[in-house]
Amino acid sequence: MKIGIIGAGSMGRALAAIWAQQGHAICLSFARDEVALRRQVAELLGASSGTPAEAARFGDVVLLAVPYPTLAEALVGVADAMAGKPVLTCVSGLRPDFEGQTIGLPTERTESVAEEIARLLPAAQVVEAFNTTFAEILQAPKRHFGDQNPSVLYCGDHAPAKAVAAQLIAEAGYQPLDLGTLRHARSLETLATVWVQLAATTGLLPNAGLQILTR
Ligand SMILES: NC(=O)c1ccc[n+]([C@@H]2O[C@H](COP(=O)([O-])OP(=O)(O)OC[C@H]3O[C@@H](n4cnc5c(N)ncnc54)[C@H](OP(=O)(O)O)[C@@H]3O)[C@@H](O)[C@H]2O)c1
Repeated sequence: MKIGIIGAGSMGRALAAIWAQQGHAICLSFARDEVALRRQVAELLGASSGTPAEAARFGDVVLLAVPYPTLAEALVGVADAMAGKPVLTCVSGLRPDFEGQTIGLPTERTESVAEEIARLLPAAQVVEAFNTTFAEILQAPKRHFGDQNPSVLYCGDHAPAKAVAAQLIAEAGYQPLDLGTLRHARSLETLATVWVQLAATTGLLPNAGLQILTR
């Protein structure tokens, strides 16, 4: 699969490395230091770098992993290239001090970040995923907790895009769990806020994985 990634920070680079190891071709974009980005990409098998528009055109699927305040800048000129494609987002409106969110259910703006992205990219097939997954764990050589796999809840309105998301979640070593439609991103983003607050308060951050037990 060809994966375009917009956001070359902790999350974008970590998932790029994981999926490159799985044999996917990666185009990584959106960093303030293009030279550093090219250096990082050179270490990833089968990876290249480009502008967000180039990454969006390159990908059969696109991952959005940018800070929420930069979302509008990151999406300039990419909407056409995203049309009909799965667009995974882990973008969070969590405040930097973890004291709540800037967008979503607990605020006056009930729209989630993922719904805002779907509004900005009307022809894209947006799926929210990986927003309860800490980048430090993704970057670790072992992502499992003993013999346990953390869960990644995902949601979206397009079944084919959700199937791609589930595949990429499983390939990253997580248990994919379908949370339903994109509207449920409102609850998922709130859960992510609770999850980060819990991990920070207990001191477990970042060495904690969220798992849904089933029997
Ligand atoms: N980190 C986590 O554990 C985690 C977990 C779940 C969800 N998330 C969410 O995933 C998204 C990405 O998180 P992250 O931790 O990967 O972020 P990050 O490490 O700060 O990376 C952000 C990327 O955006 C780029 N960027 C371009 N213009 C920027 C600007 N004006 N200001 C800031 N960054 C700019 C940065 O470029 P430079 O390389 O030049 O800095 C960097 O490549 C966020 O929405 C975050 O809330 C994060």
